[in-house]
Amino acid sequence: MENIQTIVVDSKEQGAEKICELVQKELEAGHLHVLGLATGSTMEPVYEKMTESDLDFTNVIAFNLDEYIGIPATHKNSYAYYMNELLFSKKPFKETHIENGMAEDLDAECVRYETLLKENPLDIQFLGIGENGHIAFNEPGTSPESVTHVVELTESTIAVNSQYFTEDETMPVTALTMGISSIMQAKKLIVAAFGEKKRPALEKLFEGVVTTEWPVTYLLDHPDVIVITDLKL
Ligand code: GLP
Repeated sequence: MENIQTIVVDSKEQGAEKICELVQKELEAGHLHVLGLATGSTMEPVYEKMTESDLDFTNVIAFNLDEYIGIPATHKNSYAYYMNELLFSKKPFKETHIENGMAEDLDAECVRYETLLKENPLDIQFLGIGENGHIAFNEPGTSPESVTHVVELTESTIAVNSQYFTEDETMPVTALTMGISSIMQAKKLIVAAFGEKKRPALEKLFEGVVTTEWPVTYLLDHPDVIVITDLKL
């Protein structure tokens, strides 16, 4: 798998440092104008390291992968809130974009977002992996041709992500997400996967067979993927 470079680290903190180094290299080479960001616990140490660093994103446009439908940016579980708290309030960017999960016309919102992505091709896209192999909110069965779209979350994703919602909060069961083809258009993909729970998904990736049941395996068809993990496979 010449297209996939794997970097094994001892901890997610070390992984976060590695990601910052890769970003710094691309910034210094003048290759990073548009950066695709991800959310989830995997990315928390990455944004912590970024905010502590000297990295300058004032000329970089950011796009986020996904957002829940029906909770506003002021809700602490929205990805807009997560990004503001962890990164944007501490590191200025030229522009930041995330799908609007409160849009009245969700299909129009998907078209708006995909158009923006086409106008601003991604240089790097960060990716985490769901335990069921999803990337962004592209659940098993998602077409490789998919662009930004509305998704119904699977039982598995709802079970995993509901830990962030308190008992009196209703967790959204739908979301907006960049599609597989939106993600695959990025020049470089940086995938982070830490902890045993991610082993089945990474094993599927390294089996080397593309299957819609494990969306992470679509990355096998991308020319430039870096996987950063603390798992020895
Ligand atoms: C979430 C997000 C994904 C994220 C993944 C992993 O559902 N939609 O973009 O990569 O699941 O989350 P975590 O890093 O918390 O394991």
